[in-house]
Amino acid sequence: MTAAEAVKQVKDGDRVVVGHACGEPPTLVEALVARGPELKGVEVVHMVAMGPARYAQSGMEGSFRHNSLFVGASTRKAVSEGRALHTPCFFSEIPRLFSWRILPVDVTLMQVTPPDAEGFCSLGVSVDYTLAASRSDRVTIAQMNKYMPRTLGAKIHLDEIDCIVEKDEPLIELKPPAIGDLEKAIGENVAKLIEDGSTLQMGIGAIPDAVLLFLKGKKDLGIHSEMFSDGLVSLAEAGVVTNKKKTINTGKFVATFLMGTRKLYDFVDGNPDVVMQPVDYTNDPNIIGQHEKMVSINSALQVDFMGQVNAEMIGRNQFSGVGGQVDFVRGASRSKGGKSIIALPSTAAKGKVSRIACALDAGSAVTTSRNDVHFIVTEYGAAELRGKSIRERAKALIAIAHPDFRDSLTAQAKEQGLL
Ligand code: COA
Repeated sequence: MTAAEAVKQVKDGDRVVVGHACGEPPTLVEALVARGPELKGVEVVHMVAMGPARYAQSGMEGSFRHNSLFVGASTRKAVSEGRALHTPCFFSEIPRLFSWRILPVDVTLMQVTPPDAEGFCSLGVSVDYTLAASRSDRVTIAQMNKYMPRTLGAKIHLDEIDCIVEKDEPLIELKPPAIGDLEKAIGENVAKLIEDGSTLQMGIGAIPDAVLLFLKGKKDLGIHSEMFSDGLVSLAEAGVVTNKKKTINTGKFVATFLMGTRKLYDFVDGNPDVVMQPVDYTNDPNIIGQHEKMVSINSALQVDFMGQVNAEMIGRNQFSGVGGQVDFVRGASRSKGGKSIIALPSTAAKGKVSRIACALDAGSAVTTSRNDVHFIVTEYGAAELRGKSIRERAKALIAIAHPDFRDSLTAQAKEQGLL
């Protein structure tokens, strides 16, 4: 059917779950937004919205209320202005929020490949929470798109889809970030901590991509990550990532979503070495922890002297969300030989603010707790915090703060009785 016909299934007050990141079905979302004038109180639940998220724009409040599970560029303003909501939750928990009906789902908007000979469609670049939503909803609406790569792993049968809209259009792409000297210095410090044969989880952005630049001399790395991007394709082609030493899922890249360019989508299309699984599998700390030498690499906005990490708020404003950070931090700490790394620039706001601080800013959240934290890395080095006292932590963190801030941080630590 047409997209306009399919979204007629949405009723006032429904909760509509939209496929995540580059798996968002743009044609279905646009058709839903076009119904705005005749709809009331429809809750749109989305994790990272990579499209324009017009349902969250000013003036849409009567028709749509956006409930963001991770605030991104196109939804941040709506959340900070109180026109949209943010629901904090670990990425690994989202499928359970839907299937246990803590957040009951009425309609799922997803994107799939055309079916194979047995009638199974691949969920392509976004398996994460979409499959769980579709299995607990009233109506599943799928955009069937030949540009969606056919990835192995989780799949959905035609019988499980209520409305199919055939619409071929290029997927949303994420261009590789610009990597400057700062990111390179951080990347180099992180890469020093990674041993041959490690299994890696890496987030998105310039810092993880900079780390990849310094992994070219490593051997037999593996990937068990919530996502991966173009940078990894080059490392796989160069024979650095082989997945051979992975303790489980040996030989396979495992992820739950992918964000990148067509180069990445072509790499995973029909690739028997890439397995896409739901996020309650990939991000389960018990699964992550089964990998020996599991290394998680994530970023943050601020770290205090105790090692509390804020990766999601600037003051009282929600900037992003926890995503899979804590899932992987906890998984890596259970792993034999594992390391969890939080890598961040030493300053923010063009060098005016130190990200190493005596306390987190008032109103901001603790993303990774001081009990979970392991390594903090800046362009000035690495501080290992696990097993260290608060005093030792403060000292180690000040040593990797920007030199311009070390004296004032030392004075604050003395005032707090830490030095
Ligand atoms: N005080 C004031 N401003 C700050 C700040 C601080 N402590 N820290 C950062 N900022 C500002 C920066 O200056 C920047 O603003 P600008 O662009 O105007 O210079 C802005 O906030 C964004 O900071 P930046 O560090 O560039 O963000 P990022 O895009 O690299 O994202 C996180 C970093 C931490 C927000 C992101 O990695 C995240 O959301 N992490 C949590 C989720 C996660 O780890 N998931 C698992 C992997 S996918």
